Amino acid sequence: MRGAPAVAAPTAARKSDREGIVAVLQDQPTLDRVQAIIRELQLDDELNLEPTLDSALRRVREGGNQRVLMLDVSESTAPIAELSAARSVGGSDLKILALGTVNDVGLFRDLLAAGASDYLVKPVSREALAIGLEKRGGSTGGGPGAGLGQVIAFIGSRGGVGVTTTAVSFAWLLSDRHKENTVLLDLDLHFGTVALNLDSDPGSGLCEALEQPARIDALFVDRATVKVSDTLRILASEAAVAEALMIDAGAIDVLLYELRRKFGWVIIDLPRWVTPTQRVVLGAASKVVILCERSLAGLRDTIRLQTLMREHAPQTQVMLIDAGASGERATVGKSEFEKAVGKSLDATLSHDAKSTGSATNAGQPLPVAAPRSPVVREIEQLITTLAGAGETPKRKLFGFGRW
Ligand SMILES: Nc1ncnc2c1ncn2[C@@H]1O[C@H](COP(=O)(O)OP(=O)(O)OP(=O)(O)O)[C@@H](O)[C@H]1O
Ligand SMILES: [Mg+2]
Repeated sequence: MRGAPAVAAPTAARKSDREGIVAVLQDQPTLDRVQAIIRELQLDDELNLEPTLDSALRRVREGGNQRVLMLDVSESTAPIAELSAARSVGGSDLKILALGTVNDVGLFRDLLAAGASDYLVKPVSREALAIGLEKRGGSTGGGPGAGLGQVIAFIGSRGGVGVTTTAVSFAWLLSDRHKENTVLLDLDLHFGTVALNLDSDPGSGLCEALEQPARIDALFVDRATVKVSDTLRILASEAAVAEALMIDAGAIDVLLYELRRKFGWVIIDLPRWVTPTQRVVLGAASKVVILCERSLAGLRDTIRLQTLMREHAPQTQVMLIDAGASGERATVGKSEFEKAVGKSLDATLSHDAKSTGSATNAGQPLPVAAPRSPVVREIEQLITTLAGAGETPKRKLFGFGRW
């Protein structure tokens, strides 16, 4: 998630029984100080420097005995999403020390809410580092992103595979049948169809906010989201086709944070093309649903999306779905497809052009237009699998098993 640090290259991975400190640091003075404190406190921890957060999280995930993750966010465009991702990977026992140059109590509070155990302002004082690195006191604050809603992103391996239909139906069922406080965010700022599918006005707040992140706060979220029902709001846009938007990754980071503070569930219709926002969303998402088209191009792009998730969003659970919308484009056999992607498809959505077509025409979510369609049953099953894992940080949901 960031460029190479100014400090020494990472130490070679080697097995060790010692507890470890994984550090992504940006400058030599901080590194010197960290090493001095480790010596001074006579910590027997192994210090592992990593060039990026991604590689640090891989190390944490691969086990070993990591006790502390130090993450310098001073040059990060998306510190909240980064800490969120780190907390999801590290679980509640990992101590996560964020370092930065901005001395601001609001930022401090936000970083803690996103998953940091502490935030140290550079140049880091000896005392602060000693307290941060000492072994007493155990871990941190709360579970993964304690108090924040959960992000589920939907993305297609090709265009027109039913991402929007599925995300809209999913959000609608979650909010209407399960009474969960949900927001549906359409990040296809020019051509998105979430608002159209719900016969709703996209509003103009999303584009404005993403271009001026300083405006994003709780009040903004209240004003900019468009109400669909008491439990469902959407945030979308219909930017002019000729309008080039300069979206700052930090803006989406702040926006997601504010949405997660207010809503238990943030469902995202994520475009396939790579933008700076996509990486931030993937960093914040605990689950990503890939709708797969079983064509040759769909296979190639499913594999490429799997690689993207592995490398840039290792904390997310990825679900592969056989997209019903592909219809006759699904020319690759299921078992052949599964063999090539290296895992079984997690679910299948039926092909039902009649129901989805009438829902689209009526500007209604599929569960309203065609409640008895098999696709609705299958999406309801998806909710059980994805949202029923009882993992919502705000509170336990319907108590179904993990997937
Ligand atoms: N399960 C399904 N069976 C048949 N047709 C479907 C199914 N789901 C969606 N469709 C139809 O496929 C078309 C594309 O659906 P949708 O807009 O949801 O796809 P998308 O992946 O979001 O497309 P885009 O890449 O343009 O954003 C629509 O006409 C929709 O009605
Ligand atoms: Mg779409």
